[in-house]
Amino acid sequence: MTTVRDLRAKAGEEPITMLTAYDAPTAAIVDEAGVDVILVGDSVGNAVLGYETTLPVSVDDTARHVGAVARATEDAMVVADMPFLSFGADESAAIENAGRMLKEEGADAVKLESGPHTVDLTRRMVELGIPVMAHLGLTPQHVNQYGGYPRQGTDQEGAERILELARAHDDAGAFSLVLEHVPANVAADVTDAVGMPTIGIGAGPGCDGQVLVFHDAVGLSEWSPSFSKRFGDVRGEMEAAVADYVDAVEAGAFPADEHSHEASDLDELY
Ligand code: KIV
Repeated sequence: MTTVRDLRAKAGEEPITMLTAYDAPTAAIVDEAGVDVILVGDSVGNAVLGYETTLPVSVDDTARHVGAVARATEDAMVVADMPFLSFGADESAAIENAGRMLKEEGADAVKLESGPHTVDLTRRMVELGIPVMAHLGLTPQHVNQYGGYPRQGTDQEGAERILELARAHDDAGAFSLVLEHVPANVAADVTDAVGMPTIGIGAGPGCDGQVLVFHDAVGLSEWSPSFSKRFGDVRGEMEAAVADYVDAVEAGAFPADEHSHEASDLDELY
């Protein structure tokens, strides 16, 4: 199993790879491909559950998907992305929710969309043995505050705020940091300034690793952000397979003899 120590050792030597997964078959594919970290992102809300944002994702949703991914994963580190308001309001509730992912569902760590409100919480979780991945830059759980999904850290003040929070979470013991949709030079500077590995999404090549949403990476999403890349056309493959199935059933070509069986010893039923 990939551990927090393995990631720290890899940082700066070889790029760290991270992809999201939300179900067992996808996790098995991602794990067998040698990806270091599988993030059960709250992007499950948009990618799988049909919501427009990640906000409606519940702790129970997250638990169900984390369990499925953990059962199918042998080598990668499994990180549970804590959903909106499952942390940040009340420390005991946050620890209970995060602890459930490790104790009951088999996660190895949690991710918190970070801010000033998660510095002490990160420290406390780490003290208790819950490894925490921080997340700065664009934090989609703030969609209503932002009024969309704008780039972050694009002016001096914004860039300095990200750097300051990155240092605070590093000091608090976070084992890595996701940097989302920030300028490449800001991400590179943050990477140089902190001890924990950084993992970028829309943050340029200067991070210690990269993460994408699985559905965007394989070409299953209808829409994906400009910083993402489609490495396949899974949507096209699925559309073709489903169209072939419909054609075959409608034409009477499926099921054929090889897909059917007969019970030879039966009397006529009627
Ligand atoms: O939920 C998610 O998939 C994420 C990644 C985009 C980092 O937070």
